[in-house]
Amino acid sequence: MCLAFYKKMNYTSFDLLPGPIGVFDSGYGGLTILEKIREQLPQYEYIYLGDNARTPYGSRSFEIVYEFTLQAVTRLFEMGCHLVILACNTASAKALRSIQQLDLPHIAPERRVLGVIRPTVESIDMLTKSRHVGLLATIGTVRSESYPMEINKLFPDIKIESVACPMWVPLIENKEFDNEGADYFVKKYIYQLLDKDPEIDTIILGCTHYPLLINKIKKYIPQNVKLLSQGEYVARSLADYLVRHPEIERKCRRGGICNYLTTESAERFAESASVFLKDNIHARSIQL
Ligand code: DGL
Repeated sequence: MCLAFYKKMNYTSFDLLPGPIGVFDSGYGGLTILEKIREQLPQYEYIYLGDNARTPYGSRSFEIVYEFTLQAVTRLFEMGCHLVILACNTASAKALRSIQQLDLPHIAPERRVLGVIRPTVESIDMLTKSRHVGLLATIGTVRSESYPMEINKLFPDIKIESVACPMWVPLIENKEFDNEGADYFVKKYIYQLLDKDPEIDTIILGCTHYPLLINKIKKYIPQNVKLLSQGEYVARSLADYLVRHPEIERKCRRGGICNYLTTESAERFAESASVFLKDNIHARSIQL
């Protein structure tokens, strides 16, 4: 399904100039990915866009997540990005394929949009010994079945069980992730997953928000179970992509800075994002 109202944009002048790498998430979660990308690739310029006014995406329908994500990608293209990373599993699960296959050929055939699911799945092979893997993610990501489908394509011998954790993103967005109340919901979903398959030896944190809960999550998983937190794998995969695609790399502007955009209040975003990134952040508010 292509959202026909997005006509081919006139990017001609921008097409000639390098631009920042766009990093998009429904809220703050993508900051965990951005941090790792900037550690791995500090030389480039970035724009982070959080759709905080409409977060969470995890419980929304396919059509809405697709529409919101396409709006964000289009805006980042207008700002000169040639490459946009969907640093959100829900958007990657529900919108990436449609945008890549149906929209990009019409609106910006030379530009690229990448997600976080493929790099995560590619790394699972070297982590699991039992070949039993668990997925903790939003309702949207679990229902999309994107992880089981990708795993099945790449590593058909790996068995995967999934549990949706609808309370985790609200706990994080409301900065309750270090508080006692969070323990109840952290324990609940982990035990549900391990009950489904006690042979699981690797758990994918399939939502970019979840690394913020890592201290609590570690409290409730057995010692032999590994946690796959996506940031470093996505960052490594992006570095590799840029080596394999010099035509895109040439269009990524250098400079090392990052500008932060939010669809919510800029002050609110800056205050919360500073907690997530432990950095001083100045943000600008935009409408999509
Ligand atoms: N960061 C999103 C993801 O990785 C989840 C947050 C949301 O539900 O909007 O799936």
